[in-house]
Amino acid sequence: VLVEKQGFKHYMLKEIYEQPGVVRTCLEYYLRDDWRPDADFSPIKLNLSPALLADLEQVQILACGTSWHAGLVGKYLLEDLAQIPTSVQYASEFRYAPPPVTRQTLTIGVTQSGETADTLAALELELHRRANLRSELQPRLLGITNRPESSLGHLVSEIIDTHAGIEIGVAATKTFVAQLLAFYLLALDLAWQRQTLDHSRLGAIIDQLRQLPAQVEQILESQERYIETLSHDFADTQDFIFLGRGINFPIALEGALKLKEISYIHAEGYPAGEMKHGPIALLDAKVPVVTIAMPGIVFEKVLSNAQEARARDARLIGVTPMEEQEARDTFDALLPVPEVDELLSPILTVIPLQLLAYHIAARRGLDVDQPRNLAKSVTVE
Ligand code: G6P
Repeated sequence: VLVEKQGFKHYMLKEIYEQPGVVRTCLEYYLRDDWRPDADFSPIKLNLSPALLADLEQVQILACGTSWHAGLVGKYLLEDLAQIPTSVQYASEFRYAPPPVTRQTLTIGVTQSGETADTLAALELELHRRANLRSELQPRLLGITNRPESSLGHLVSEIIDTHAGIEIGVAATKTFVAQLLAFYLLALDLAWQRQTLDHSRLGAIIDQLRQLPAQVEQILESQERYIETLSHDFADTQDFIFLGRGINFPIALEGALKLKEISYIHAEGYPAGEMKHGPIALLDAKVPVVTIAMPGIVFEKVLSNAQEARARDARLIGVTPMEEQEARDTFDALLPVPEVDELLSPILTVIPLQLLAYHIAARRGLDVDQPRNLAKSVTVE
């Protein structure tokens, strides 16, 4: 397939800009328009067999890289919305130290390419080690992928296709957002089946999902120019810290990974509350700290963690809603995002972090789409 840059300087920037459309497409595929809170069917149509999801006691998610970050958000959603204990493992670790076999366990392999060797091998291990066991221990495998025709598609019988379209930039952007959406949809579907969520709350979340394409668009339109200018300030920066808590902790990890991958700047993502147990020792005026602070259960805590960084003269950049005066007073620079339910916020908070990584790398004149030492999919162990 020939994919053009369509006037964008790099594929990565084009793919960042495709995200509103990716979210819209995914919702069109999987949300039922005729659902109402009093309906007797699920609002989500993932077309998975009932046996795959029936009476689950656990979920285990296996993935690498950015897909592993999507899995961490997925864990939060599956536990919070559907009340299923969930673990997330690096496929490369699972292969050589799989946990004990547990009953009624759904194993989800997340891989945008469907070709990552470690993820495929971990899933194969799970398939084979369970194959001859009692029925409640039999394998139940689900793939979340952007390439249903891939090796993953041959290995597992059930797939959620993320429909993000081909991604050329080595640093995953739109496929990550599409993986996040797949987890929202799966968690909501399971919540409906298991009756763990009040139907009016379920309806409210779905209404908010439908707002996301316009909100992502709004961030792109209002922020890109500013982030490009801001990126000039980091010409000589050697280290970055990204902080988040709760459902936005994985987004801090993803923000740091994006920056590392394409700008070659050392970056660490940390749960904000853990900063005092180590990384705070790194801070001084030369280390910018990017904090994700979205109103919700951890908001005040995150702001006070950011203030601890301020006391070390670190430059504070906040991903936070414009309306939040307290947050505005805390940060030196703002990457504003629309105010949304904290649960939905990862889809928005990751966008400015992608733009920040992109512009810092582009400003340094680096090969954003083909960073050194990295491959789009790693098909060796
Ligand atoms: C490579 C890419 C990463 C990606 C990871 C997992 O390392 O450089 O961007 O997140 O593989 O890829 P997958 O296709 O399995 O999601």
